Amino acid sequence: MLVDEHLLFEFEKKLNPQNLKDSPIPAALIGFGEISAIFEIADNSRVAFKRMPLFQDHSSAKAYTNVFNEYCRLLIDAGLRLPPHQTAIIEVPGRPVTLYIAQEKLPAGRFAHQLIHELEADENQWLIESIASEISKIWCYNRDQHPALKLALDGQLSNWVWLEDRDQSAIYYIDTSTPLFRQEGIEQLDAELFLKSSPPFLRWILRRFFLADVINRYYDQRQVLIDLAANLFKEQRPDLISLAVEILNRQLVSDQVPLTIDAVKKYYREDKLVWTLFLSFRRIDRWLTTKILRRRYEFILPGNIKR
Ligand SMILES: Nc1ncnc2c1ncn2[C@@H]1O[C@H](COP(=O)(O)OP(=O)(O)OP(=O)(O)O)[C@@H](O)[C@H]1O
Ligand SMILES: [Mg+2]
Repeated sequence: MLVDEHLLFEFEKKLNPQNLKDSPIPAALIGFGEISAIFEIADNSRVAFKRMPLFQDHSSAKAYTNVFNEYCRLLIDAGLRLPPHQTAIIEVPGRPVTLYIAQEKLPAGRFAHQLIHELEADENQWLIESIASEISKIWCYNRDQHPALKLALDGQLSNWVWLEDRDQSAIYYIDTSTPLFRQEGIEQLDAELFLKSSPPFLRWILRRFFLADVINRYYDQRQVLIDLAANLFKEQRPDLISLAVEILNRQLVSDQVPLTIDAVKKYYREDKLVWTLFLSFRRIDRWLTTKILRRRYEFILPGNIKR
C-alpha cells in the first residue's frame, strides 16, 4: 500500500474540517473516532485514511507512530488479523502536526455492526462467538506468554470485519488507532492524547476523575465483554443480548463474575449518558471556538447518534 504524502499534504493544507465539501481534493467521511476522523480521499477507494490532528511537534507524532507500530505487531503476535497499514506525518505550518494512518479499506457492509442486521440467527451466533474468541486471544496472550506485558483492545462491533474471500472466513480487527498496551505496568501511549479532542474547559476534570477509569476498562476482560454486549443496544439489536451474554460468559474463567443482562443494561445506561454528555460538550467547544473566538476547530464531530 503506497501513500501519496504530497496528496495528503495538499489535502490537509486546504482542509476546513467544518466544511469538507469545499475541499479542493474531494473526500468523503466514512467513520468517526473519538480522536480520529476516517476519510476516503480523492479517487483512492482502496484506502481508509484516519486523520489525527493531535500533535504538538514532529517528535510526539513520531513517538505515537512507534507505539502504534508496536501495538499492531503485538496484536498480530497474539493471533489477530489486521488489514495492511502505513502512516504519514503531515506538517502544515501554523497547524497541529497531523498523523494519518492509511489502512486498507474494507467493505462497509462486512462490519459486524452492519452484519448483525442482515445475517440469519445461526450466522449471528457464529459472528458473536468468533469476535469473543478473537478478544480472548488477547487475554490468553497476556496470561500465558507475556507476564510483563498487558495488551488491550476495544471489542465494539464496529471494530470487527468478517471477510469471506480471504483465508476462507476470517475476522479482521481495524481499531488500531488507540494503541493500548502496558509494559511493566507503564502505559505506552501518552494518555494526554485522549484529552486532545476534548474541550479545554473539561480537561482537568476528565484527567482527574475519568481518564484512568476509561483506560482501565480496556484492560479488564470482563469490562470489554460487557461493553461488547451493551453495544448491541447502541446498534439496535437488544434482542441479541441474552444470546451474547451466554456466549461471552463462556470466555470468562471460574473466578470471574459472570455477565448478566441487568449488569449489561446498567452499564449501557451509564455509558450512554457519559458519551452523550461528552459529545454535547464537544459541540459547545466547537461553537465557542468557531463562532465566538472565530478560530479553527480541528475535529469533525458526528451528527446525532441513534443509541
Ligand atoms: N479500514 C477501514 N475500512 C473501512 N471503514 C473503516 C476502516 N477503518 C475504519 N472504518 C470506519 O470508521 C469507523 C471507526 O473506525 P475506528 O474503529 O478505527 O475508529 P474509532 O473506533 O472511533 O477509533 P478511535 O476512537 O480510536 O479514533 C469504523 O467502524 C468503520 O465504520
Ligand atoms: Mg472503533
